[in-house]
Amino acid sequence: MTTRVRARAPKKLAGTVEVPGDKSISHRAALLGAIATGRTEITSFLEGEDCLHTLRALEKLGVVVTRKGPGHYLVDGAGLEGLHEPDDVIDCGNSGTMARLLLGVLAGQPFWTFLTGDASMRSRPMKRVTEPLASMGATFVGRQDAGRLPLGVRGMRPLRPLAYVSPVASAQVKTALLLAGLWAKGPVSVTEPARSRDHTERMLAGFGARLSVDGRTVTLTPGAELRGQGIAVPGDLSSAAFLLVAGTIVPGAEITVSGVGVNETRDGILDALDAMGAPVGRSRGLLAAGEPVADLTARSATLRGTQIGGAIIPRLIDEVPVLAVAACLAQGRTRITDAADLRVKESDRIRSIATELGKLGARVTEAPDGLEIEGGARLRGARVQSGGDHRMAMALCVAGLVADGETVVEDTECIGTSYPGFLEAVNTLAGGRCLEEELP
Ligand code: S3P
Repeated sequence: MTTRVRARAPKKLAGTVEVPGDKSISHRAALLGAIATGRTEITSFLEGEDCLHTLRALEKLGVVVTRKGPGHYLVDGAGLEGLHEPDDVIDCGNSGTMARLLLGVLAGQPFWTFLTGDASMRSRPMKRVTEPLASMGATFVGRQDAGRLPLGVRGMRPLRPLAYVSPVASAQVKTALLLAGLWAKGPVSVTEPARSRDHTERMLAGFGARLSVDGRTVTLTPGAELRGQGIAVPGDLSSAAFLLVAGTIVPGAEITVSGVGVNETRDGILDALDAMGAPVGRSRGLLAAGEPVADLTARSATLRGTQIGGAIIPRLIDEVPVLAVAACLAQGRTRITDAADLRVKESDRIRSIATELGKLGARVTEAPDGLEIEGGARLRGARVQSGGDHRMAMALCVAGLVADGETVVEDTECIGTSYPGFLEAVNTLAGGRCLEEELP
């Protein structure tokens, strides 16, 4: 038995909230801190299950991690040569980012490490990183010809240089290869079909790595030592997206989410909402940890359908479940294309969005690489399934805020992987309990 959430329409949705630290940046801060020389002090680290798994893994590899308070960690770096062979299997939980980024680091370590994860994680494709890392010299063993977790990796030092043209626009692939490049004997470059999030590039440069960007190609030249840093992690735009869409579709709502990372390789959701007739207000940006940060304000709006495809997809890949909810409420049709990677996220999100929003009365059709959503249908409360996927669980809760009657979202424990405090944030804005958790 797992937890479920009962969702109903709030009487209001107004006010200002913060969201927890960015998941992508938290993983990277811990990983780079672990292989840097000296101390990295991280504040607003996301204490969701995914990033906590990364910290535990680094401890198993011999890194000293000290928790000073909520979201406040000291990582005493082992340096590029200081990690050691873990004496047990490393559990990646539900986190694809952790598994793929860590494989990049482990490809440069001259010892064996074994990784596993939960059922969803064990079904996700890993060849996209193991193949190029093997071509650099690392050895992999594992299910499906080293294509699925559990996986064993034995690194090599130095690794061979690589100029890799990636078939997917994936920051996880790009990051794994750039991190491995730290132990290569020459440059490692990655060319992507479209630009994916660039948190790794920004953070590596901040730690002192030699990095250059030329269009869709990023090159890391090894040799520089990484130096520990202070990192204040911005709020996660992917978490804020659930609140922003709620602020857009709940009648009369006006909400502000403060201190959110608005890196332009991540902010496609803001462009999509703008195209749908719901511009999100943005305060003047500040910089934190080399990342732009702003306060974002969403107001109730009449939405219209739109086309979402091409280069914007990597900029909003994690926001498609909640954007699909917005599309259900819009006038006219929304088409999402070029998003086949959604089928290999924490769940097959294309299938899951179509099936679960369909149960609420939405008109959603699956395509191999996306969705077609006929807006304007009235949503009716029903029993829906997250499938253990945190972003599906939260998107369905948001749909429940605008459906008639009660929506029951099953299997909601997973929300804690990326956004502990989601229910409280929505209930605070609602001034009452429109999202009620039922424990088993
Ligand atoms: C992430 C990259 C994205 C995204 C994931 C986090 C990252 O995956 O979906 O939630 O932190 O690098 P891909 O790079 O595989 O598209």
